This record gives sequence, C-alpha cells and structure tokens, in this order.
Amino acid sequence: MTSLTAAEAYRALGSYRDRFSARHMRDLFAADPGRARRYSATLGPLHLDYSKNRIDDEGLGLLFGLARERGVESARDAMLSGEKINFTEGRAVLHTALRAPPDVSIHVDGADVVPGVHEVLDRMAVFSERLRSGEWLGATGKPISDVVNIGIGGSHLGPQMVTEALAAFARPEMRTHFVSNVDGADIGSTLDAIDPETALFVVASKSFTTQETMTNAHTARDWFLASGRSLSDVPRHFVAVSTNAEAVSGFGIDPDNMFGFWSWVGGRYSLWSAIGLPIALSIGMTGFRDLLAGARAMDEHFATAPLEENLPVILAMLGVWYINFLDAPTHAVLPYCEYLDRLPDYLQQADMESNGKLAQADGSTARHATGPVVWGSTGTNGQHAYFQLLHQGSHLVPADFIAVVNPPRRYGSHHDLLLANCLAQTEALMLGRDPETTAAAMRDAGADEDSLARLVGHRQFAGNRPSNTVVLEALTPRSLGMLIALYEHKIFVQGVTWGINSFDQWGVELGKQLAGEIYPELTSGPGEQRNPSTAALIELIRKKTIE
Ligand code: F6P
Repeated sequence: MTSLTAAEAYRALGSYRDRFSARHMRDLFAADPGRARRYSATLGPLHLDYSKNRIDDEGLGLLFGLARERGVESARDAMLSGEKINFTEGRAVLHTALRAPPDVSIHVDGADVVPGVHEVLDRMAVFSERLRSGEWLGATGKPISDVVNIGIGGSHLGPQMVTEALAAFARPEMRTHFVSNVDGADIGSTLDAIDPETALFVVASKSFTTQETMTNAHTARDWFLASGRSLSDVPRHFVAVSTNAEAVSGFGIDPDNMFGFWSWVGGRYSLWSAIGLPIALSIGMTGFRDLLAGARAMDEHFATAPLEENLPVILAMLGVWYINFLDAPTHAVLPYCEYLDRLPDYLQQADMESNGKLAQADGSTARHATGPVVWGSTGTNGQHAYFQLLHQGSHLVPADFIAVVNPPRRYGSHHDLLLANCLAQTEALMLGRDPETTAAAMRDAGADEDSLARLVGHRQFAGNRPSNTVVLEALTPRSLGMLIALYEHKIFVQGVTWGINSFDQWGVELGKQLAGEIYPELTSGPGEQRNPSTAALIELIRKKTIE
C-alpha cells in the first residue's frame, strides 16, 4: 500500500483544512440547526455526540473516503475472519473471537478457535463459582477472601480497570488486589494487608517470563511458604493465566489450575480471555459474560455498519483529522465517573502500545504523525488541575468526555453536579467567550474601563476546542464491554489508516534487554561499554549516598 500522504483523500483533506480550519464551531452550529442530532449516534445503552468537532459534512465525507482508500473495510474483515494481520509476528488478531457466541466459527490455521474459547470460559465459570461460594478452601481449610492478581501491562491494566469500574457489582466479602510494579513496595503493601490462609494469587502473564510479574510471583510464594506452608500447599493458593504451560507447572502451579489463552490474543486486548479471571472472581461469571456480550454488540456494529454510521470509525477518523491535519498530538480521556478512574491508564496502553510506532508494512518509516499521547483523569478533578490549558493553552487537545446517566448509587445532588460540570466543560471548550461578551460581563460585575483594558485578554476564551461526549445509560458489564470495544476498534482503524501494525510492540524490547544487562552491574559495577552518563549513575547508586 502507498503511504498515507500519497492518498488522494489525504491531499483533498489538506486543501479542505486550508479552506476550513478558521471556521468556528459556534458558526457551524448557527448555520446548521440539525447538527447536534445528525452528529450523534446511539447503540444500545451507549450514545455518542460528536457534534462539537471542527468539521462539517464535507470534511467528514473526506475522512470516510480516506478510510475507504486506506482499506479499512477489508482490513476489518481480515481481522475478524482470523487472517494473520499481525504481519511482523505472523499472528492472527482475534480478541473478537473471545466474545463470539458458541455457534460462530472462526478459523486460524484451519482450526475453529471458538470451541476452545468457550471451554476456557466454562472452566472459569466452575472455578469462580467454587471460589465465590466458599467451596474452594485454602490449605488450612479456610475459604478465600482476597484475590491478588499479579501481572503487568495487558495482564494487569484491563482486569484492574474493569474490576474497579464494576465494583458496584462485586460482593464486598471478596476483595481483589492488583500487584504490577517490580518496586517491592507494591507487593509489600499488598502482602501486609492480606492473610496467607485466605489469599489466592492469580499469576497472570501471557509469556510467564515477564521480569516484574515473575519477581512478584516468587516474592508472594516465598511469603506464603514462610507462613508455615509447604510447596504442596501452593496449588490451593496460586493459579495461573498464561499461554506457557511448561513455565506455569515449573512454578508449582497445578496445570488443572492454569487457564490458557492463545498467541492470537494480544496482551493489551486480553481482558476478554482468562486474563479477565479476577473480573469473573469479583463480579461473577454472569457479569463477565455480560461484559463479553457488550463487546460483541460493538463488534457486530463495527463489522456491519456503514463507515459513516460506524462509531469506532467516526472516532478514529476524527482523531486522524486532529493528529494529521490540525497538529494535535495528544488526546485526553476524561471520564466523569469515579468508577472509570483507571480508564485513561488502560487506554494509554491500548492506544500507545498499539499505535506508538512509525514502521510501515514495508519496513520504511512513516513521514506522518501516528498514535497520540493519550492521557487524562476523572472529572471534576482535572478541572482544578490542567483544564486551564485545555481552555486557554497553546495546544489543541481533542478530548473524550465520558458520562454515565444513572449512577449505581445516588448521594444527594452529587451526580447532577457532576454531569452539569461535564456538560459545562464541553460547552465552554466549544463556545469560548469572545472579548465583547467578556467585557460586558465584567462591566456588569462593576469593573472599570482600566480593568477591562488590562484583563479582557486574560479572561476571554477563544473556544473552538473539540470534544466528543460518550454517554452510558448506566455503568454495567454490558455497557462497559461496549465502551472498551469501541476504543479497541477505533485504535485498529487508526492503525490501518496510518499503515502501521497495531499489534506488535517491538518498542518495549530494548529497554527490557538493557535492564537485564544493567541489573548485575548495580552489584559488579558498570560494564566497559556502558555510556558515561549511565555508568556514573550506576556508580552513584552503588555508593548508596549522594555526597
Ligand atoms: O512490555 C510489553 C508487554 O509485552 C505488553 O504488551 C504485555 O501486556 C505486558 O508486557 C505483559 O506481558 P505478559 O502478559 O507476557 O507478562
């Protein structure tokens, strides 16, 4: 495939940008009374309003044309049918098969993968039921009260984000903990809070070789054994989720207590697999299956809706518009929902590990921008921290605001205040406040002409700052499944548009290799080939004092 910048639609978008980019969204709304309705879409319990974007019908048409020209539809079909689209690793990309119903067939290397998916789901159902009902007993005969997931990256962020988002569906007597960092403070503080007699560790690692996870797993096992237990007790307190059966049994985990998945599930797309076991242990298997069903509903929409009505495609192409045409290299995710406070972290990995790369299919380096820096946190907290820059700073920061209409619990006026803030921010970003209106408001408040001359420039808002608003009817397993799959497919569409492979992650390898080399040098001293800066830092750390 040719480079993105050579695409006909790309060039047309460049000239559209030159003609259009000065137009203010205020004027777009004024000129088109139907804009809010036409630039909104609903799928089940999820509603998307994308009307507050710096675009009109012509621009959207060009963006969908670009998606077609870049082969988004055929790439989507190839992914969904199990073709090996992860071309640098020779793998299919089938997280969608993890949420396919049993009557669907999807083949990889001639074999239908769906029966295996349901076999693992059924095993997860049996195990989670035994654990949650108190039938599964620890080595001293006590039921399990604390589940500790030990994993990192995709084996951590997804399960943690979903478990915490769906805390309202969990049983309070079953606590779930997540340990990821190799910093001993992480596992240390968790071990301090639990009892070895009632703890179950889920060691989650696709490879079962990841340094952080294996270090934490060994520390947990040592702690468990130090409590007076023997190696034969380990299988009652440690289970594994992995694709590496040999390493799992080498660790002392009973292969019957290993929940497998497959090379065609990317780490950051794996929460739907057995990597989601902590979710199932927390909310039960019915809830976990609802999560899968929500994602499946989004998959079906993605597979069948015309690009112009396809929610992941709409979000993806708006992102391409800002990144490639309006110089906006970051994207903010702003959930107005405390339960979703881990969503920005989760989407950081999903998006940045997928699309933070420049190598094109033929190995050449792309000469256009690709994946954005994804960041954000919950509203209203962000309003009192970095929203100043969103409103008046020099960078254009497109943002997704995520709101939930019906919270699991209502506390007085809190929820209406939360939603009022969410809507106020998107409106303020879009409309801004021009100098005349600012001056009039200041005059009404009693300001003199001298103050006006000094302060209007500071107190005006240019506006024209874009946002999408995603509204969920309620935060349920189903709606959350839809929301996550919406972003997964958005990321995929962008990767196809940019001509990169969204499913490898070679960029994390070099640092891992160097950490392996530097680790012994913290004891032995820097190797001769070590660069002077790092060598000096190694020596400083070895001295254990700064002076
Ligand atoms: O460091 C990158 C990475 O490979 C991620 O892609 C992955 O989610 C994470 O490490 C954990 O890998 P594993 O599940 O094999 O321990």
